[in-house]
Amino acid sequence: MFFNKKRDSMKSKSSPTTSVKTPVLFLGATGYVGGSVLARLLENPAAKSLEITALVRDQQKASKLQAFGVKTAIGTIQDLKLLEDLASKAHIVFSIVNADDDPHMQAILRGLKKRHASGDLPILIHTSGTGVFISQANGMFASNDVYDDSKPEHFEALPHEALHRSVDELVVAADKEGYAKTYIVLPSTIYGIPSNALTKAGLQHTSSIQVPALTKASIGRGQGGIVGKGAALWNHVSNDDTAELFVVLFDAVTKPGNTVPHGREGMFVGENGTFSWYDIGKELARVLHEKGVGQSPEPTTFSSEELEKFFGSEFVGNLIAGSNCVCIANRSRALGWRPKHTKDHLLASVRAEVEAALKQ
Ligand SMILES: NC(=O)c1ccc[n+]([C@@H]2O[C@H](COP(=O)([O-])OP(=O)(O)OC[C@H]3O[C@@H](n4cnc5c(N)ncnc54)[C@H](OP(=O)(O)O)[C@@H]3O)[C@@H](O)[C@H]2O)c1
Repeated sequence: MFFNKKRDSMKSKSSPTTSVKTPVLFLGATGYVGGSVLARLLENPAAKSLEITALVRDQQKASKLQAFGVKTAIGTIQDLKLLEDLASKAHIVFSIVNADDDPHMQAILRGLKKRHASGDLPILIHTSGTGVFISQANGMFASNDVYDDSKPEHFEALPHEALHRSVDELVVAADKEGYAKTYIVLPSTIYGIPSNALTKAGLQHTSSIQVPALTKASIGRGQGGIVGKGAALWNHVSNDDTAELFVVLFDAVTKPGNTVPHGREGMFVGENGTFSWYDIGKELARVLHEKGVGQSPEPTTFSSEELEKFFGSEFVGNLIAGSNCVCIANRSRALGWRPKHTKDHLLASVRAEVEAALKQ
């Protein structure tokens, strides 16, 4: 049902009675984001008509994934020939693995170009991040800038050097050339510890990036922390709502007569509101104080030395928990995506992050 006309006719000539499954390549199947997307996809009624192949790095994970009916290829995204070959056999590619690595995306696109030459118009669903819009504030101020995913000009005004941008440019260029339909999902700060069939099988990473980093740093110094005044703003989106966005997008782009905007217009932000880094630092300080790990229920500012020690550098610490990045997901909502989890859910998730980090 997902193939274009030419391919459908090729299919029916060779075997009129057997239904051929749609080949899907999945990158990042065991990741914090990708695992939740795959778990949802496997529950989707459409899963029966898909033949999903996941690229995984080790045999143990491959065997576990096979138990879910997922085919596997062992390798890394640095195996460019393998990646090109796998992509050339896929009608749909989910890339949820690395938003900043040009060579692997170039290999995927070479594969999709071959696929197109054989009569298909493949689909690429790539994962970037709202980090493309990041601006440094060292935690000192809240920016008034708001980026809208339904305005291509907001993306096109970005410099090539912006985070994730070079890969996004490659993806959009492929759509413009016409050999693939491309869609880019840009989640904001994803939070929450996922629980699904893959996590229960011990297959999926369960830790995100920013909130866990701030949590570990706060535990490390024995006090809930903020960068600068904690004044900078980001958006939040739960892990569940993020997975839902991918599935809503997948359903929409695989419907016959798909009219979902793609290429330069195919940008889908994941956000359900804003928070300040003070909000997170305050909740961290409160929970850590209650648990006897933090000295005060009020967060205090990380010193330069602490940023270096806990985040690797002052620059990275400022980027992770002291930058501004506010977007509005108008295009994602226009698809019918209805995120459920609000800022209260984000703040409530801090306790679980603390407990998970303390266990480690
Ligand atoms: N988490 C967030 O808040 C967030 C927000 C916006 C955008 N994103 C983007 O979403 C993407 C996925 O992020 P994530 O948080 O899910 O990361 P993650 O938990 O580290 O997952 C990465 C996935 O990619 C696989 N992988 C890593 N390196 C690989 C390689 N060289 N070859 C093959 N597979 C490899 C991992 O497999 P293993 O099981 O072998 O490690 C895992 O399945 C990234 O591009 C990230 O920038 C994340």
